Amino acid sequence: MLGRAFCRQFVRRPNQLSRNLNAVRFQSSKRLISNGNRFSSFASITGSFTLGSIIGFFLIQEWDSHYSKTQRFPLGSTTPLDQLNPPQYGSSQDLEKCVQEIGKAIGETKVVSTAAAISHHTENGFNIGKPLPDQRPRSVIYVESTEDVSRVMKLATEYRIPVVPFSGGTCLEGSTYSTRECIIINTSKMNQILQVFPDDLDALVQAGVGWQQLNEYLTQQPGLENLMLGCDCGPGAHICGMVNTNASGIGATRYGSMGANIISVKAVLPDGTIIKTKRRPRKSSAGYNLTGLLVGSEGTLAIVTEVTVKLQVRQPFETVAVVQFPTLSDSVQAVSDLFKKGFQFNAIEMLDAKTMECVNKSNQISRTYENVPTLFFKIAGLNKTVVNEYIKELKHIVKLNHCTKVETARSNEEATELFAARKNVLYMMLDYGFNEVHEEAKMWITDFAVPISTMASTLEKVGQLLDTKPLHYMVLGHVGDGNFHCDIFYRPDQYQLVKDVVHQMNKITLDHEGTCSGEHGVGLSKRDFLQEELGKDTIDFMRRLKVSIDPLRILNPDKMIKIDPKDPVDEYLKGI
Ligand SMILES: Cc1cc2nc3c(=O)[nH]c(=O)nc-3n(C[C@H](O)[C@H](O)[C@H](O)COP(=O)(O)OP(=O)(O)OC[C@H]3O[C@@H](n4cnc5c(N)ncnc54)[C@H](O)[C@@H]3O)c2cc1C
Ligand SMILES: *[C@@H]1O[C@H](CO)[C@@H](O)[C@H](O)[C@H]1NC(C)=O
Ligand SMILES: *[C@@H]1O[C@H](CO)[C@@H](O)[C@H](O)[C@H]1NC(C)=O
Ligand SMILES: *[C@@H]1O[C@H](CO)[C@@H](O)[C@H](O)[C@H]1NC(C)=O
Ligand SMILES: *[C@@H]1O[C@H](CO)[C@@H](O)[C@H](O)[C@H]1NC(C)=O
Ligand SMILES: *[C@@H]1O[C@H](CO)[C@@H](O)[C@H](O)[C@H]1NC(C)=O
Repeated sequence: MLGRAFCRQFVRRPNQLSRNLNAVRFQSSKRLISNGNRFSSFASITGSFTLGSIIGFFLIQEWDSHYSKTQRFPLGSTTPLDQLNPPQYGSSQDLEKCVQEIGKAIGETKVVSTAAAISHHTENGFNIGKPLPDQRPRSVIYVESTEDVSRVMKLATEYRIPVVPFSGGTCLEGSTYSTRECIIINTSKMNQILQVFPDDLDALVQAGVGWQQLNEYLTQQPGLENLMLGCDCGPGAHICGMVNTNASGIGATRYGSMGANIISVKAVLPDGTIIKTKRRPRKSSAGYNLTGLLVGSEGTLAIVTEVTVKLQVRQPFETVAVVQFPTLSDSVQAVSDLFKKGFQFNAIEMLDAKTMECVNKSNQISRTYENVPTLFFKIAGLNKTVVNEYIKELKHIVKLNHCTKVETARSNEEATELFAARKNVLYMMLDYGFNEVHEEAKMWITDFAVPISTMASTLEKVGQLLDTKPLHYMVLGHVGDGNFHCDIFYRPDQYQLVKDVVHQMNKITLDHEGTCSGEHGVGLSKRDFLQEELGKDTIDFMRRLKVSIDPLRILNPDKMIKIDPKDPVDEYLKGI
């Protein structure tokens, strides 16, 4: 008991050595924590820290020799999961104290612990699991500045409290949903557009600025109206969330994913240290690419508070073409052929036959289409004459690929109308699920990407697999990026079936040199897929990065890679 009490002293007053050790191994956590009171009574009896430190030192020596036998840290370069002990988080009482301290440090009004605020942060309708009662957040902190975030993280470190960063809450892989009793940092009040540099085509924004908010702002500023963020994704998403999932969407075929649309970020590390990854030049060979490290890190390494984003220039003229094909492979081949001619489009979106049937059934668009694979193009250029030249060439190439119908817009209104089928398809699909599948139907939104040359055969195999199952599904793709969503509808009792099917789909995608996530991220449900895709050593290397930056494993635990040999996620993923 005495020994444990001193361990706790070390844990609470980390010096460099114990901090390193804590990174890799903790003594059996729960017992330590429940013995906390004994430490205080002991400390008050002896009043002696020195004695504690000496005994603690010997304990650490003993731990140290234990590691060198059984663990490669610190000599190895990777951290396999079985080299870690379960993380040792603060107790519920510690959490409560931590929240009180946060209120004192940054202002009570920024701390909200109401049931409504908490439920708001546990479900967006798309997540396939939900925190269990003991995994729910306890408080939401509405930070307003980088300094606020830093103060919160310092206290979270002191009390060892898990923290989940939360911005727009639109992510589709459950990356914002807690698996541990924790606090949420909602960055949405950090929504200032700090500075626009029109000559450099970039802007400095706070993390909680929405992509739509930024675009609307630019449209309203004289001289900036033709500038925009090149990246779009779910309505309501914020810049920091987009950085953390490497989001993309429709514009990515032209402007790339979020990673390609940022220059640098300011972020707060788990211990509260504030860093900036780069200055503002676009070009740099200076130092590690920490910006790239944070892109797609799903809030597991740092909390992003400011971002320098690139701005893209809207072309003066843009129109829309809709092209229908007899088969998926014709449609994909047409896209390849267009690329090989050097074409660039502002969008190339594909809806498969089943999705077109759903569009037709929705009665929400003014036109009717054949229920066949259909491509939606956005074509832009200097002026109408130039764009018409592109369209001529486009028509020629799609014809060679057996297209059955080409429609092009004759006005801006018509362009909007033609693209509406693609733009609103998600809502049509949700209606379809409700009306045609089950009133409690949910939609499993998958997100795979493959090299474009293997896309048609991937989709064919995926179709063959799904057609043997009693499931409705539809495919839509950002074909320009070889990225597709095969959205599967399911009744609550079909949850396990879909889960298995999605796993098989992942295998098919891997056989076609693909990835388990083109744009939505890994979150909780695709961690095993990621390991299948990249191999154990690569994941162990990622884990090394994670524990070296976040030794207490407090920042968005369990997301993307497993950090606890007693991983708590299986329960979570049993469905809603
Ligand atoms: C209708 C709909 C359509 C969508 N379409 C697309 C699409 O076309 N393309 C696409 O890529 N995605 C799409 N998405 C998914 C979603 O919009 C993106 O994943 C988006 O990047 C999430 O941003 P967010 O601000 O909502 O982040 P959140 O959902 O709040 O968080 C996303 C991740 O970032 C982390 N995070 C949040 N804030 C911070 C921060 N300040 N610092 C560090 N980490 C942080 C979270 O912990 C989480 O891991 C769609 C979603 C919906 C609902
Ligand atoms: C985050 O905070 C903002 C207020 O700034 C709020 O509008 C938003 O709904 C919050 N997110 C969630 C999921 O509650
Ligand atoms: C982000 O996405 C793009 C395109 O999908 C990819 O090329 C890039 O490697 C991703 N990651 C980073 C860090 O940019
Ligand atoms: C670093 O990563 C970012 C984000 O993916 C990317 O935009 C940039 O081109 C990379 N390279 C440099 C030198 O910044
Ligand atoms: C589209 O739907 C309408 C009615 O909803 C139906 O009459 C028509 O046959 C459908 N067209 C196709 C191609 O399925
Ligand atoms: C459109 O742009 C092209 C290329 O710069 C130019 O040759 C042509 O005159 C322009 N046409 C119109 C109608 O402005």
